[in-house]
Amino acid sequence: MKIAIYPGSFDPVTSGHLNIIRRAANIFDRLIVCVMVNAGKNPMFSQQERVDMIRRVTSDIPNVEVDSSIGLLADYARQKGSCVIVKGLRAGSDFENEFQMALINHKINPNLDTMFLTAEHQYMYLSSSTVKELAAYDVDLSDFLPEQIIPEFKQRVATIHQGGNR
Ligand code: PNS
Repeated sequence: MKIAIYPGSFDPVTSGHLNIIRRAANIFDRLIVCVMVNAGKNPMFSQQERVDMIRRVTSDIPNVEVDSSIGLLADYARQKGSCVIVKGLRAGSDFENEFQMALINHKINPNLDTMFLTAEHQYMYLSSSTVKELAAYDVDLSDFLPEQIIPEFKQRVATIHQGGNR
């Protein structure tokens, strides 16, 4: 059975992430979407909240499971018996960073390879950071986020803004 790991911050999970999840779930027997820590980011949602949102939007995909970890990705993959990391690749700007992470993960765990799925054109420009910025200006988010999580996301953005305006 081929098990792949799709790791990320998913703060929050976007329609671009969901597109990668669906395509990877078609390729592998089992796909584990894992919410992990990116040391360079300060997330808006807790790890558990992000797991819950991904579970909600992937509940119709039987071979997808959602998990979280605060450890190293290379170790996590080993524990799960997986030798494949799946990543989405958007415009050229993703490449440097993703290439570096793939090489480091392979160095730490030589059994581990990274496979890239290119983003579909409508998601090429999309990122969780962009969505967070747009939300502050009350833009329609239906092209960017799975509809099930839009109310929760907007609520969080509103709460943060109220706090900031005090
Ligand atoms: O969605 P992101 O923020 O681009 O995902 C990056 C993530 C979380 C996959 C990366 O930071 C990661 O692998 N974190 C786990 C800790 C780890 O293994 N760090 C070394 C990466 S080379």
